[in-house]
Amino acid sequence: MTDKLYTQPMLKENSLKDKVIVITGGGTGLGKSMGTYFSELGANLVITSRKQEVLEKTASEISGKTRNKVLPVICDVRDYKQVENMLEKSLEEFGKVDGLLNNAAGNFISPTERLSNRAFDIIVDIVLRGTYNCTLAFGKQWIAKNQPATILNIITTYAWTGSAYVVPSACAKAGVLTLTRSLAVEWAKYGIRSNAIAPGPFPTKGAWDRLFPKEMRDAFNVKKKIPLGRVGEHQELANLAAYLISDFSSFMNGEIVTIDGGGWLKGAGQFNFLETLSKEMWDEVEKVVRNVKGS
Ligand code: HXC
Ligand code: NAP
Repeated sequence: MTDKLYTQPMLKENSLKDKVIVITGGGTGLGKSMGTYFSELGANLVITSRKQEVLEKTASEISGKTRNKVLPVICDVRDYKQVENMLEKSLEEFGKVDGLLNNAAGNFISPTERLSNRAFDIIVDIVLRGTYNCTLAFGKQWIAKNQPATILNIITTYAWTGSAYVVPSACAKAGVLTLTRSLAVEWAKYGIRSNAIAPGPFPTKGAWDRLFPKEMRDAFNVKKKIPLGRVGEHQELANLAAYLISDFSSFMNGEIVTIDGGGWLKGAGQFNFLETLSKEMWDEVEKVVRNVKGS
């Protein structure tokens, strides 16, 4: 174990004991990392995506490590019938679901005018339709059974700034942000909380191959865009997600928590470009600015 505190598990043992949590896109990347930690904290999991083999491998890896149950269920979140089937299988296995982590996504960089309408649809469908399909199916069931529950959505910081070259993803994540805040109010009376996490860059194969291809990595060093000078560690995201999906965060509702080392703000502040000035340059600038008198 490294000495860096943020790479270590944070919550106390059994913080998620007896919880059943469904994770879309749970077979790979951040979904897998968050799921592994939830399972370490005592949760039983349902992990879903389009690839049975990937899900089965991840499920046995996690349950082999933690001894808690992980049910792999194939489900394309774009298809409401498949989502209903996935919910049914979860209930058959565990009798209830306490938490839904909407994490599945599709994305790639492209000038927007190069996209076919199908390419635009496919991203929006995975991210926005996939999230509201799961939210609706699970929400109806929770409300009918009068069961309290937690929804946690994974968005991005460009959900509110927008971003060139990932326009379908930006549109869809903005929709998920609005869904989060809207239902935080509407479904609170049923004991259903809705929160979201907006991560900055956390290396995963899925995201890196499509957004920061090897050929571009030297020219566009991701770390240079982050004031803290590094990318995220999966465990620090998992710590935040575990807190937000657990009962420790019972008074958190409608919140979007950014975890990006200050990345989006660096791009936003009008004078942030002055970061590149040396101490000597600042000495010169100060002289000039102090000499300005009157209007
Ligand atoms: C233009 C492209 C394209 C590209 C695909 N398409 N790649 N168009 N430039 N680079 C077009 C195809 O031609 C097709 O349109 C349409 O998109 C669908 O492509 P398919 O390959 O048929 O679809 P499918 O096999 O379902 O794959 C879906 C996918 C793929 C989204 C394209 O990338 C995928 O499976 N992604 C899942 C995982 C993922 O994306 N993870 C990263 C999330 S990262 P036509 O018209 O030709 O049929 C993330 C991080 C955000 O969200 C923030 C980071 C800091
Ligand atoms: P990833 O490993 O590619 O995860 C995406 C997952 O979504 C995959 O497991 C994929 O599995 C699944 N998925 C895609 N389409 C699906 C569909 N139609 N139905 C069901 N599942 C589907 O990438 P990641 O980096 O871990 O991303 C996880 C989440 O974090 C995403 O919401 C992403 O937007 C967000 N995020 C990531 C970063 C980052 O730096 N990594 C930054 C900000 C936000 P299949 O392809 O097998 O279906």
